[in-house]
Amino acid sequence: MAMENNPAWPSWLPIRSELADLKPYGAPQISGVRALNTNENPYDLPKKVVAEMLEALPQVLANLNRYPDRDAVALREALAKYLSKSAGAVFGSRNIWAANGSNEILQTLMLACGGRGALGFTPSYSVHPLIAKATGTNWISGDREASFNIDIKKSIKMISEKEPGITFITTPNNPTGTSTPYADLEELAIACSEVKGLLVVDEAYAEFSQEKSAVNLIAQYPNVVVVRTMSKAFAFAGARVGYAVCNEAVVDAMLVTRLPYHLSSTTQALALVALDNSKALLAEVDALIAERDRVAAQLTKLGFEVSPSSANFLLFSGFKGDSKTAWESLVAAGILVRDVGLSGYLRVTIGLPSENDEFLTAIAALRS
Ligand SMILES: Cc1ncc(COP(=O)(O)O)c(C=O)c1O
Repeated sequence: MAMENNPAWPSWLPIRSELADLKPYGAPQISGVRALNTNENPYDLPKKVVAEMLEALPQVLANLNRYPDRDAVALREALAKYLSKSAGAVFGSRNIWAANGSNEILQTLMLACGGRGALGFTPSYSVHPLIAKATGTNWISGDREASFNIDIKKSIKMISEKEPGITFITTPNNPTGTSTPYADLEELAIACSEVKGLLVVDEAYAEFSQEKSAVNLIAQYPNVVVVRTMSKAFAFAGARVGYAVCNEAVVDAMLVTRLPYHLSSTTQALALVALDNSKALLAEVDALIAERDRVAAQLTKLGFEVSPSSANFLLFSGFKGDSKTAWESLVAAGILVRDVGLSGYLRVTIGLPSENDEFLTAIAALRS
């Protein structure tokens, strides 16, 4: 019983026993510090885009008495258009599903296709196993190499032995920043198809990477699902918009497990304006990449070890004391980074140049 497992829960609360030991996702939100801990885009939305959003709102607000478009067709069409332009493969709205952040996409997918369990290669995005457990999906943990890359032969063997319904690859990977080459993704797609499983490629940070997107695999391998978000490069985290790119049959399966009217009229309308202004919203991506490379070079010069990153954050080691102590020292200096639970490492999100300079000054004092 839950109460016997974990006295943190009151005895009258019938929490599922398999959830009793889990902790909620909880990246700290602290005011008055530089928030370099959740991989957001640090740039505010351009005024012109905000003005367009305000223009779109009155009609949306007047119609809040009605449910939103349940299937978010206009938004999915706009996402398909954005993707067809940016990622090199052509998609229609039937290949897209949209939801409140890519986390909701992951949940909808696991509810639909997680019956035979889900496999992931750690360290990776901690929410994958959390959603697995919350949806009753058996979580199978594979490893990454010391370099945080994936050993493809070993992974393929694991896929064929465990036959998971879903295999997750996050690329660029959070929290390590490393990316998985397209050719390796193709091999994994084949291995997954041989066990009639999905290969779910979490591309939350794709816009920061030079690697060819896995969306190009979908036409040949219908078991490939690419999960993306507008929370990172798109500077739209507060609006909560994520999407899946996949074969139509996968969308149909997700239609069964999505909640009715899950994506509000307001979210859909604002996301349409955002996509209409994708160039303006993505304008700082190159600057963030340049800053990432500058901060990585500075950290290396200071004597830290930095994992090669294709995303908007850096994982590094080489500071005094353990991760928790170094994290606390940085908070005391007004800088909030992420302790990702990897002993001896911390992750920093690339912020504004001035924030990055403040981080570099603070971390320099913690060199071991
Ligand atoms: C790899 C990865 N996937 C998915 C997400 C979830 O993003 P959102 O729900 O904001 O779309 C994140 C957020 O940090 C992430 O790092």
